[in-house]
Amino acid sequence: MSGVTLDRVVKEYGNLQVVHGVDLHVAPQEFVVLVGPSGCGKSTTLRMIAGLEEISGGTVTIDGRVVNRVAPKDRDVAMVFQNYALYPHLNVADNIAFGLRIRRTPKAQIASTVEEVAGILGLTDYLERRPADLSGGQRQRVAMGRAIVRNPKVFLFDEPLSNLDAKLRTQMRAEIKRLHKRLGATSIYVTHDQVEAMTLADRIVVMSDGRIEQVGTPMDLFLNPANTFVAAFLGSPPMNMIDATVRGGDAGPVAEFHGQSIRLGNIPELAQADGRKITIGIRPEYVTLSEAEAQNPVDISLDLIETLGSEALLHATLGDKPFVMRAPTEGDIDRLNGVSKFHIDPSLVHVFDGETGRAMPAAQDAAA
Ligand SMILES: Nc1ncnc2c1ncn2[C@@H]1O[C@H](COP(=O)(O)OP(=O)(O)OP(=O)(O)O)[C@@H](O)[C@H]1O
Ligand SMILES: [Mg+2]
Repeated sequence: MSGVTLDRVVKEYGNLQVVHGVDLHVAPQEFVVLVGPSGCGKSTTLRMIAGLEEISGGTVTIDGRVVNRVAPKDRDVAMVFQNYALYPHLNVADNIAFGLRIRRTPKAQIASTVEEVAGILGLTDYLERRPADLSGGQRQRVAMGRAIVRNPKVFLFDEPLSNLDAKLRTQMRAEIKRLHKRLGATSIYVTHDQVEAMTLADRIVVMSDGRIEQVGTPMDLFLNPANTFVAAFLGSPPMNMIDATVRGGDAGPVAEFHGQSIRLGNIPELAQADGRKITIGIRPEYVTLSEAEAQNPVDISLDLIETLGSEALLHATLGDKPFVMRAPTEGDIDRLNGVSKFHIDPSLVHVFDGETGRAMPAAQDAAA
């Protein structure tokens, strides 16, 4: 099984550098998701691995071999795109078999491989159909079938589900995950959908502006984002960010903002940091809606409640900024109408440097 290593990989278009020296190691059989906003360099990075874009600097290594100068067809990778790029005049079986035909694979072997892969992908009943007579999800499965039959060292996916409707996306997402469990092929998957990233990835690579912001398991990035960018990118609705100033207190440091305050956890960097500018991050699901008498509550002004069934999103204002909270409805929305305060466990408040956005980690639990 084959790993992929990027070592200071750079992409330039003329004088414009769009990928600025990316380092990444994808282990054999690992499923790594590249995620980030539009234009951050995800596709460019993937296409350099595939050999569809020239590498301007650094090296790409696949299965121990530097492939910078190796043609795409000789890299032993298979790529699945957003627009399935099927041959319209060929039926499903021939679309899946296409790559094998060019390699002059024996007919009997092609037939058995196509049958097996069609079985895996639930396409057995559609082998005679043309792409035009398939649904979007079925077409995407054919595109995946075409990649699978080649038995590549590495699968590369560039937003393969983004043309599908929400329900089909969720379904295909689960199918891709199952397929990976079954085939165990090294996979690099590009998306700007953070739910896809969270659910599919062994590790997520968060990119912004041609650079890697952080690499880690989904829970790692969710619980310990390295900076405000990652913190705000993962999680839905996103983490609330509040600009604040640190004050010392008898019970430890406190973040002050708009005449209010929130206690912070045990953050070594803030021990002597009176007056320092910070940004605090509060996840919508980590607040507790307060009864009037709760200790040390934060006042908010509720604008709107969105009911999702078992849960509701409470859109409020804190100071002059929007602040979103997520709460269980417990079958009674009226109860939520009167909400005007919340409190939060200090250990659940994320703290970032107010200038750089870098996370200031809490001290490790002594007991841990
Ligand atoms: N041929 C090109 N010439 C010049 N700039 C390019 C070219 N192709 C891409 N770029 C630029 O490179 C940057 C990265 O593009 P890329 O397609 O990798 O982004 P992406 O992260 O895949 O975005 P999206 O989520 O929108 O697909 C963008 O700023 C883009 O405008
Ligand atoms: Mg792209």
